Amino acid sequence: MKIGLFYGSTNGNTKRVAEMIRDQYPGEVDLHKVHEEFDPEIFDQYDRIILGVPTYGQGSLQEDWADFVWEMDDVDLSGKKVAIFGLGDQGEYPDHFADAMGELYEKVQELGGEVVGEWPTEGYDFKASKAVIGGAFLGLVLDVDRQPQLTQDRLARWIEQISQELG
Ligand SMILES: Cc1cc2nc3c(=O)[nH]c(=O)nc-3n(C[C@H](O)[C@H](O)[C@H](O)COP(=O)(O)O)c2cc1C
Repeated sequence: MKIGLFYGSTNGNTKRVAEMIRDQYPGEVDLHKVHEEFDPEIFDQYDRIILGVPTYGQGSLQEDWADFVWEMDDVDLSGKKVAIFGLGDQGEYPDHFADAMGELYEKVQELGGEVVGEWPTEGYDFKASKAVIGGAFLGLVLDVDRQPQLTQDRLARWIEQISQELG
């Protein structure tokens, strides 16, 4: 079953991770960069979805997502499984680390989607994050600013995990 990966990216880090997922996933993954004019009906083509979001401006959605998230209200994610990954900088923004993932999580819940791909918080050093739900990150968190050396290993393990959880 084809997977649709939707991401936003200002400086290219999330784009690069999206491409790594596409190249390493054991199955076909289509990449879509969201933006203000992006057609939300493209979500209808996929039952298995991955969302990628970096955090900006003290805990806010990155601008591609901020511009597009309003367009998503008519998207029906019921019966669909969704895995979320996020990029942030725990050294510079320890009180808002990867917060934007929390906002996207709420949107996915509101639209009826089932979120999979929970990830442990061990190995990160931060104070507060809206990406933490019930003691775990709601999806994969990557910090290419402070922990670039851990990205590939975290990604490989998460891909293996979600390839089972997405089914
Ligand atoms: C102006 C600015 C604000 C940022 N704000 C946050 C933040 O509030 N929380 C966080 O975890 N990371 C924050 N970051 C770090 C980015 O999320 C991180 O660098 C990410 O890798 C950028 O992804 P991109 O290259 O796909 O845009 C910020 C970065 C910049 C440049």
